[in-house]
Amino acid sequence: MTETSAQKVILPDAQTVTEVRHYTDRLFAFRCTRPPSLRFRSGEFVMIGLMGDNGRPLLRAYSIASPSWDDELEFYSIKVPDGPLTSRLQHVQPGDQIILRPKPVGTLVHDALLPGRRLWLFSTGTGFAPFASLIRDPETFEKFDEIIVTHTCRDVAELTYSREIVEAVKSDEMLGELLGADNLAKLRYYPTTTREQSPKMGRITHLIESGEVFSDLGVPPLDPAVDRGMVCGSLAFNLDIKALLEGAGLREGANSEPAEFVIEKAFVGEGV
Ligand code: FAD
Ligand code: A2P
Repeated sequence: MTETSAQKVILPDAQTVTEVRHYTDRLFAFRCTRPPSLRFRSGEFVMIGLMGDNGRPLLRAYSIASPSWDDELEFYSIKVPDGPLTSRLQHVQPGDQIILRPKPVGTLVHDALLPGRRLWLFSTGTGFAPFASLIRDPETFEKFDEIIVTHTCRDVAELTYSREIVEAVKSDEMLGELLGADNLAKLRYYPTTTREQSPKMGRITHLIESGEVFSDLGVPPLDPAVDRGMVCGSLAFNLDIKALLEGAGLREGANSEPAEFVIEKAFVGEGV
């Protein structure tokens, strides 16, 4: 038995990588096989990882970026140069194995929101990942008249993944056939950058405060009777958006008590 096949035999919860795409020196996405028994709600996260040098699994939380109907799983990942997991995970190739614990959880799910008319998906950086799942799920289009996904990154290249996903959804034949082209037009994309020139500059929080995002999109300001929100980014971003949503009268919900918006951290950082 070769060393590689021996490793394959001992990896617990092993899944095989099928595709890898690198976007920048900080970001990449990959797809892998899906355990046949894995059921999840679009927007949830799981623990994935690699075997550590000490022979124990090195696992981290990852939002599933693919929709719940997909045969495979997709993940969108940061590359932290000294990160215990991503310093290695960024080198995976098709055919390699990763560990995936099939226990999905999370709050960025439809069940945690009360019915509404307009869904706002606010993200920064890899916080777009759960929304890549939700905007490929027909349920999102069935539940809302309008879906606005905002993605704020430092520079233009960091928006490539979200731009590609949104474009793919809008031209997806299967979703188009299932929902109708009019329904796919409900999805609107509002990308902004903060450190490189682009058509729309600025933190989304500032664009909400100034009202610019509403005038740009031609929609009224946030209203708890109409608007629902999902938020995923750094802790500082999440706290700032939460204050704005609460200021507009929206309440934070949870699986056990649905309300007008839900929040999840895109990563555990150093704090505010
Ligand atoms: P770690 O030791 O985990 O992190 C080192 C430092 O890197 C952190 O202190 C932080 O400052 C920074 N960092 C970590 N993750 C990120 C990030 N995503 N963006 C910017 N800076 C970061 N990461 C993803 O790349 N994609 C996901 O879909 C994703 N989903 C998550 C969902 C949840 C609920 C949580 C809590 C975290 C999620 N993360 C995600 C973060 C992930 O769990 C790891 O932290 C990340 O993969 C880095 O692992 P590491 O071992 O290399 O470094
Ligand atoms: P900025 O460049 O002004 O810090 P990061 O790569 O550091 O995770 O940041 C991703 C994006 O999120 C950046 O464009 C960053 O803007 C923005 N951002 C960071 N913190 C906040 C916050 N508290 N409110 C709104 N946007 C934020």
